[in-house]
Amino acid sequence: MTWHIIGAGSMGCLWTAQLLKAGMKATLLVREQRLRSLNIAHNIARPILTVDEWDGATHRYPIKLNSPESLTDSITHLLVCTKAQDAEAAVQSLAGQLSDQCQILLMQNGMGSQQAIARQFCSQTVWAASTTEGAWMKDALHVCHAGSGSTWVGPVDQEPDDSVWQALKGVLEQLPLDIQFTHQIEQKLWDKLAINCAINGLTALYDCRNGELLNSKERQQRLAALTEEVTQVRQSAGVPGSGNLLELVHQVCRDTAMNHSSTCMDARRGRDTELAFINGYLIEQAEKLGVETPANRRLMKALTELNIR
Ligand code: PAF
Repeated sequence: MTWHIIGAGSMGCLWTAQLLKAGMKATLLVREQRLRSLNIAHNIARPILTVDEWDGATHRYPIKLNSPESLTDSITHLLVCTKAQDAEAAVQSLAGQLSDQCQILLMQNGMGSQQAIARQFCSQTVWAASTTEGAWMKDALHVCHAGSGSTWVGPVDQEPDDSVWQALKGVLEQLPLDIQFTHQIEQKLWDKLAINCAINGLTALYDCRNGELLNSKERQQRLAALTEEVTQVRQSAGVPGSGNLLELVHQVCRDTAMNHSSTCMDARRGRDTELAFINGYLIEQAEKLGVETPANRRLMKALTELNIR
C-alpha cells in the first residue's frame, strides 16, 4: 500500500514518518518549486526525513518526494496535511490521479474545508481527523514530535460500508500513534474548533505562548467568552456536547503551555492564518443560526487591524 501525503509541514512530516515506520510506502507531495529546493538542499536522490521523538530518540527515513504536477501514480490513500485554506485546491490538483476507491484523510484545523471537499469528492471516501499530537518543524524535512496525543478519525457527511471502514481502521491501527475511529467526528471537530477559536487568535493577538493565556484575569475572561460562544453556536446547530469546553481549553493551555500556536507562528511569519476556518467559520454558522458572537467578532476585528488574516 502506498500513501500519498500532501503538505510537508509538521503533521505531514510526522505522519509520513509514522507510515514508513509501520512498513508502508509513502510519497510526500510538495509544490514543484519546493521539490527542487528540497532536492537541491539534500543534494541526493533520496532526501532524508528526520523525526526527533518526544522520548528523546531521533529517527531518519529516506523518503520519496514528488510534486502533484509530475505525479503519474494512481492514488488510493491520500493524506491531506496542508493548511485549511489550501486543502481544497490541494485535493483538486490531484483529482485526475485519485482512484474511485481512494480514501482521503483530512488533517486540517478548523471546519468548513472538510465539508467542502466531501461535497466535491463523492465517489471517494472522505475522512476527517482531529488530533492533539504536538509537532513543530525544526527545519525543512526535520520535525520535532513534541508531545504524544490522540487522533480521532471519522467519515465526513457519509457512512462508508463496513468493509471500507474496517480496511482503513486496520491500516491506521498499525501506526505507532493513538488513533481512534468514531462515527461522531463532527463532535470531535467542534471540540477542536472550541480549542482553536479560544487559543489561536488570542495567542496571535498577544503574541504569546499558549500557557500565557492563563496568566491574567483579562485573558482568562476572553478565553471564557470565546468558548461560551462556541458552546452556544454548537448547541443551536444541534451538535451534542461532549463535556465542559472551557475546562478542555484550559487543559490544552496547560498541556501545551510552552508552545506557540500555529496561528501565532503564521502571524509572526506574516503568512495567511487558518482563522477564516476557525473563528470565521464560527461567526458564519452563528449568523445562519441567529446567534450573537461579539467576543469572536471583536477578536477578528482586532486581528484584522493588526493585519493578521
Ligand atoms: O493550532 C495549534 O497550534 C494547535 O491546534 C493548538 C491545540 C492550539 C496547540 O498549539
